[in-house]
Amino acid sequence: MTRFSPRAAQPLVRIADIAYLRFGRRDLERATRYFRDFGLTVVARSADTVHFRGVMPQHHCLIVERAPHDGFLALGLRAASADDLATLAAAHGAEVLENPGPGGGHLVRLTDPSGFPVEVVHGLADLPPLPHRRPRVWNFPGDKRRVNAPQPAIPEPAEVFRLGHVVMQRQEFARNANWYVETFGLIASDVEVLPRSHEPVLAFLRCDRGADPADHHTVVIAAGPRDHYDHAAFETLDLDAVALGGEYLLRRGWVQNWGVGRHILGSQVFDYHFDPAGFAVEHYADGDVLDADYPTRYHVTGKESIYQWGPEMPRHFIDARPTPALIAAILRGLRDRADFSLKRLAAIKKAFDVPPRPWAGKTIRKPKAG
Ligand SMILES: [Fe+2]
Repeated sequence: MTRFSPRAAQPLVRIADIAYLRFGRRDLERATRYFRDFGLTVVARSADTVHFRGVMPQHHCLIVERAPHDGFLALGLRAASADDLATLAAAHGAEVLENPGPGGGHLVRLTDPSGFPVEVVHGLADLPPLPHRRPRVWNFPGDKRRVNAPQPAIPEPAEVFRLGHVVMQRQEFARNANWYVETFGLIASDVEVLPRSHEPVLAFLRCDRGADPADHHTVVIAAGPRDHYDHAAFETLDLDAVALGGEYLLRRGWVQNWGVGRHILGSQVFDYHFDPAGFAVEHYADGDVLDADYPTRYHVTGKESIYQWGPEMPRHFIDARPTPALIAAILRGLRDRADFSLKRLAAIKKAFDVPPRPWAGKTIRKPKAG
């Protein structure tokens, strides 16, 4: 079985950051309404493609294309230099292409070990940042900084600043996680292992920017029953942006997934939502950043490693219902893939069947005075 290595001594390149996601959607108009309500801004639009940006200067961070099926079409990563594009192209027998879409620059198209498209870009245009509200000023005991100035309610979308990370499930965990580490210089910040065997089953991977701190995770690879998109997360300003942004989506009739809470690994304040095609997208704020020296830490996997506070994690959040499509994917994996087993799947399911916080989610009964 392939062993997972949390960092590569000599990676092919060290990418700078995540760049964008490319989604295909049957109903492009509905998807466009959703992502505007989610807090993104349309920066370019054609009959069949919409590019969205955040507050930060990056030209775009989400591309939604009209497609025959709803799906996750490609992950975009940002190269640190044009030379890195040439290095990637040479090593993978690919070509450095001019970006045919808005924003300019160049890109290389690769596929990860599961056959999923990864586009590495360099030279996308920067735009002036969008205006945004200032961070809230909080009053603390003995330190009242806000006098004669109530906190405003903000009935508007969350201001999304940027794309932060993507989480992808893979049948072949180690083969895929190693590929992202060795190809893009990613470093495992935290690794989750199975309770008895201590076999790694999830890696939070960050960019190696040396002394310059990077998000706790940019790409997450999780072992699972099929190769698929789990969720993507967009950074907002603060706790109120996450919570008020969620309120706005509810008011507009969209569907919440899980939140508001705070993660443990990465520390983010989070709120998950479903886009109209049922794909999970996350607003987050106040995530950890780590420099390249910070060591990898290991944890036993399970729901208790996911959040420190928040509503009880709903059953659908880690969705493993045995649909015909899921069973077919599992059978294909068992036939074709050396690094995939039912034993590991059963161990992951068992670890996640344990309720993380037995006191949460109970029906409220008001205590009676005696
Ligand atoms: Fe996330």
